[in-house]
Amino acid sequence: MSDAEDSALSETPIAELTPRKAKAEHKLLAAEVQAANDAYFQDDQPIMDDAAYDAKRRRLVALEEAFPALTRESDVSAKVGAKPSGKFAKIRHRVPMLSLDNAFSDEAVAEFVGRVYRFLGRKEEDGIAFTAEPKIDGLSLSLRYEKGELVAAATRGDGEEGEDVTLNARTISEIPGTLAGPDVPEIAEVRGEVYLGHADFAAINERQREKGLPEFANPRNAAAGSLRQLDVSVTAARPLRFFAYAWGEMPELPAPTQFSVVEAFRRWGFRTNPLMKRCESVAELIAQYRLIESQRATLGYDIDGVVYKVDDLALQARLGFVSRAPRWAIAHKFPAELATTVLEAIDIQVGRTGALSPVARLKPVTVGGVVVTNATLHNEDYIRGFDSKGLPIRDGTDIRIGDTVTVKRAGDVIPRVEAVDLAKRPADSKPYEFPTLCPACGSHATRELNPRSGKEDAIRRCTGGLICPAQAVERLKHFVSRDALDIDGLGDKQIEFFHGDPELPVREPADIFTLAARDAANLKRLKDKEGFGAVSAKKLFDAIEDRRTPPLNRFIFGLGIRHIGETTARLLARHYGSFEALRAAGIAAADEASPERQELGAIDSVGPTVVEALVEFFGEPHNEELLDRLLAQVSPQPLEAVASASPVAGKIVVFTGALERMTRDEAKAMAERLGAKVAGSVSSKTDLLVAGPGAGSKLKDAAKHGVEVIDEAGWFDLVGG
Ligand code: IVH
Repeated sequence: MSDAEDSALSETPIAELTPRKAKAEHKLLAAEVQAANDAYFQDDQPIMDDAAYDAKRRRLVALEEAFPALTRESDVSAKVGAKPSGKFAKIRHRVPMLSLDNAFSDEAVAEFVGRVYRFLGRKEEDGIAFTAEPKIDGLSLSLRYEKGELVAAATRGDGEEGEDVTLNARTISEIPGTLAGPDVPEIAEVRGEVYLGHADFAAINERQREKGLPEFANPRNAAAGSLRQLDVSVTAARPLRFFAYAWGEMPELPAPTQFSVVEAFRRWGFRTNPLMKRCESVAELIAQYRLIESQRATLGYDIDGVVYKVDDLALQARLGFVSRAPRWAIAHKFPAELATTVLEAIDIQVGRTGALSPVARLKPVTVGGVVVTNATLHNEDYIRGFDSKGLPIRDGTDIRIGDTVTVKRAGDVIPRVEAVDLAKRPADSKPYEFPTLCPACGSHATRELNPRSGKEDAIRRCTGGLICPAQAVERLKHFVSRDALDIDGLGDKQIEFFHGDPELPVREPADIFTLAARDAANLKRLKDKEGFGAVSAKKLFDAIEDRRTPPLNRFIFGLGIRHIGETTARLLARHYGSFEALRAAGIAAADEASPERQELGAIDSVGPTVVEALVEFFGEPHNEELLDRLLAQVSPQPLEAVASASPVAGKIVVFTGALERMTRDEAKAMAERLGAKVAGSVSSKTDLLVAGPGAGSKLKDAAKHGVEVIDEAGWFDLVGG
């Protein structure tokens, strides 16, 4: 959003406007409302809250009433979107709703199956069965039944917490209100996909068109927009459908395999997908994939791939999860879709870490049912057509403004510019010159030399660091984002607003938490500003207040330290327990010979890049000051380990020698699930050595440091099971 759009809602009384001023304001407002409509209806990604949207639409209508000539120039005001109004209550999922890893080739499927075998320590001849079923392109829903009665329905949300759409779900005829059958458990959370059929989707859009309302970009957005309606009569009027394919809390399962539980769902009254099949080999999985792919066009609803799952639920339990996806399932996605269009401009965006990312602005084109106007161009080398070693990309063809290009969109990933049609290149086109100065702050933008590989980094970065406003804004956006502090009502747009606001500036994370107090001391209050109002200002302050005690892992992730993603943040949170401990370690680790550096490097999956990034972050005096100010406002909470009750929670465990009941990977995953830290070598800090037959020097180390040693059976006695 540009600043102009932010300030479009003027306070000048309409009666005082000249026609010229009214026209100018109308133009801006119409563009904003159009953008909000597109974001909601095309992308299912609202960019402003409902209060702001309503305020803008009201002003637009008022302008058109006072200056009827404007009406002819706009059709936006007529389109009162059926935006879901207001907010839904939140429901916390008792069992998180996970996502799936993707595979884009037959080889990747074979690798997935191989990983499952290795993790479980099985040989090919032992055999493991999988299910294969269509991946429905809708939105997932969790339905909670108690004593067979539907008591709650929640959307996926962030996987931990979703929206309460119980009343809406009750209007969907394919969702049973009562489950039938002798084997329906006391508590049954059935999960699956809400979606719209092609014919129903077309009919809904036709009705939207007739009423002059914006159309939905695709069936998935239409299904989401139809379900998330505070006015349930809107949901009831939309023929939403539902396939059941998974479950959440269900203490007594009706059967021991994926396939048979889904069969039970069918007996209880759900629709399940008839193309689900049990397969015994990679070849059978791929055959089922091809079969489903061949029927894709005639199914009557959108699917975007095939999901494979380990059939045996005991094996699923052993495999567990990595981060947010199960080890026992994968989505084999259908190939990407392509379209041809014209590259109209190249914009450079400056990211949180200063990376300059080129974005292609395209003449709008439909790719697989979605209108695409932007696509990534990756980096400077990608545009130039040669990588940093001088090897050609696209046979060395560069990409120029004005070129006719092929755009590729694979599932939910960002579309990318793939190829150039040289025959259509305008005669006067010139090679694109990638900026060497940061477009946001004017600092030099350079390509670092990787000290290890000696190669030039493909990414050009702004060297402005903390003085670069673009980096500051992106860092703030990251800090409040869904996987970090997750502050409701403080999205990208609001961060941009506050960052540029002279009265209530937010320049660094700590400023967010002083907003309410600073606002109270201001003459002009936030509630009186454009686009806010008393209710949304209060809601925002409440949401901020609510986040003063963020979970430690989210806090670490939110700091946006390079190379520290969600998974690493969680590992660090688990390992150090408190932010103070992590910070002390990060500072001490600057000394390469320090035990703190060793300890950091010994954490599973923490490599030298992460160690360097932490040392650099904590070694930067500006960051120290920024953290002091932030920690005066917030108190990160130690990870509430699922595991705090487990006897190995917080302990440092080392595995050595041969294990019989589980593979080494599995042992590691199990220990981590129980809150233990797994280290690779024995030191004075080790709490427990689990030694199987053939254990060697580690046993001696354990004796030297007085570390308790148990065998595999002892481990299972200790942790139970
Ligand atoms: S299983 C723990 N099965 O895909 C695994 N998901 O990319 C839970 N989806 O959020 C998911 N069809 O919304 C599963 N047959 C299917 C599916 C399916 C569609 C969606 C689901 C999930 C997303 C993950």
